[in-house]
Amino acid sequence: MSVPSSAVGTAQIGVTGLAVMGRNLARNFARHGYTVALHNRTFARTQSLVAEHAADGTFVPSESMADFVASLARPRKVVIMVQAGAATDAVIDELVPLLEEGDIVVDAGNAHFPDTIRREAALRERGLHFVGTGVSGGEEGALNGPSIMPGGTAESYASLGPILEAISAKVDGVPCCTHVGPDGAGHFVKMVHNGIEYADMQLIAEAYDLLRHGLGASAPEIGEVFAAWNTGDLESYLIEVTAEVLAHTDAATGAPFVDVVADAAEQKGTGRWTVQNGLDLGVPITGIAEATFARALSGSAPQRAAARGVLPADTLEWNVPEPGAFIEDVRLALYASKVVAYSQGFDQIAAASAQYGWDIDRGAMARIWRGGCIIRAKFLDRITQAYERDANLPLLLADPYFTAAVANGVAAWRRIVAAAAVHGVPTPAFSSSLAYYDGVRADRLPANLIQAQRDFFGAHTYRRTDRDGTFHTDWSGDRAEQTW
Ligand code: 6PG
Repeated sequence: MSVPSSAVGTAQIGVTGLAVMGRNLARNFARHGYTVALHNRTFARTQSLVAEHAADGTFVPSESMADFVASLARPRKVVIMVQAGAATDAVIDELVPLLEEGDIVVDAGNAHFPDTIRREAALRERGLHFVGTGVSGGEEGALNGPSIMPGGTAESYASLGPILEAISAKVDGVPCCTHVGPDGAGHFVKMVHNGIEYADMQLIAEAYDLLRHGLGASAPEIGEVFAAWNTGDLESYLIEVTAEVLAHTDAATGAPFVDVVADAAEQKGTGRWTVQNGLDLGVPITGIAEATFARALSGSAPQRAAARGVLPADTLEWNVPEPGAFIEDVRLALYASKVVAYSQGFDQIAAASAQYGWDIDRGAMARIWRGGCIIRAKFLDRITQAYERDANLPLLLADPYFTAAVANGVAAWRRIVAAAAVHGVPTPAFSSSLAYYDGVRADRLPANLIQAQRDFFGAHTYRRTDRDGTFHTDWSGDRAEQTW
């Protein structure tokens, strides 16, 4: 089937890869009045989209990639929505020879940002724009308004940006889409979004576990607690989702749904990438790292089987005297730990922006995360305001609003982390976040001893508190100090 001559060069945007996310993005473009070129490796899927959703707007379906490209108006804008990795490279290889100077290729999958940097450079060599863009909000977001994080050149955004902003989620009339920065910046910020998502989800899971162990509460009872929390500072999509799944009953057994779900968390990889990059950049994203490792631990079946019933618990029996006060303590600890996780994530964005020369506006990132994405929350308004107060804020925790908000919960945070420890409930994200809070505010850390140890066995030198310079002590000789 070739494109009718009347349809050649008519589509303002095209989508290749019509699985659920690509399908819903194409429908979203059409619903906003754009003529949308369609292509999929299996033509039947293209045909079914047009047959089922013609009412959404104007589609131009093509069976071949050549016809798909021919149906696009110049500068052509092609959105690739296929699996990250080799599949994306394969589509790019098929597409690029058909394009002309100034055309724009958009990768809307969860690509690893180094791949995006490579692809952007390769297409730039051929006079083409390559835009790696994060799209967050799942299937529902793709259809009704995601948060969109495009990278690439300012020139490509001038042409592509208005279309992406039109289909993005809106908060107070403001699109949840903005130009993040050059080359891989968009996919990087999406990666950090997912890392923060992991931390957020782990913290919520730990709060659920604490209420389960501390109160012996049932899933529906805990769901009611989360529903109540969703009316205050913790209001967010993830808290809303949590209340929903905890209230759900499993049809097959009549038991609470979460009680029949296997306790082994999986991960597609974006959280892992975030932690690897945090290690590369030297940014202590402890909340995201603990959340990622907690998923790995939950999936470590052999180790868990070997440990279960063998490792002594040696815990105290848990009798919470005042359930209401305990629930409030958990809420305060959850909020404080969440601030730490977001503070760390935004530190990572700042470090990467400096490292890769992206000049990312963190306030703008918080602003476009207020809606459409998985971590969307009222909380992000507060972060946006913090960066409006100081665009170069060195530590989100040190913003006056967040300093006060966390200070309000520190005592509760300590009570909960201590209670979890003595009762044997694992809270890696809660406790590492408290350790980070105490570490980052400490006047003096024990790193002085580490420096002394390193100098003793490796002559790795150290600095002094009382004068500038780099020093080494001749430990194997007269232990005199030398200036290096
Ligand atoms: C989003 C989500 C999405 C992510 C899935 C699964 O922003 O819409 O983050 O991109 O791929 O949530 O992620 P994991 O398998 O890594 O949990």
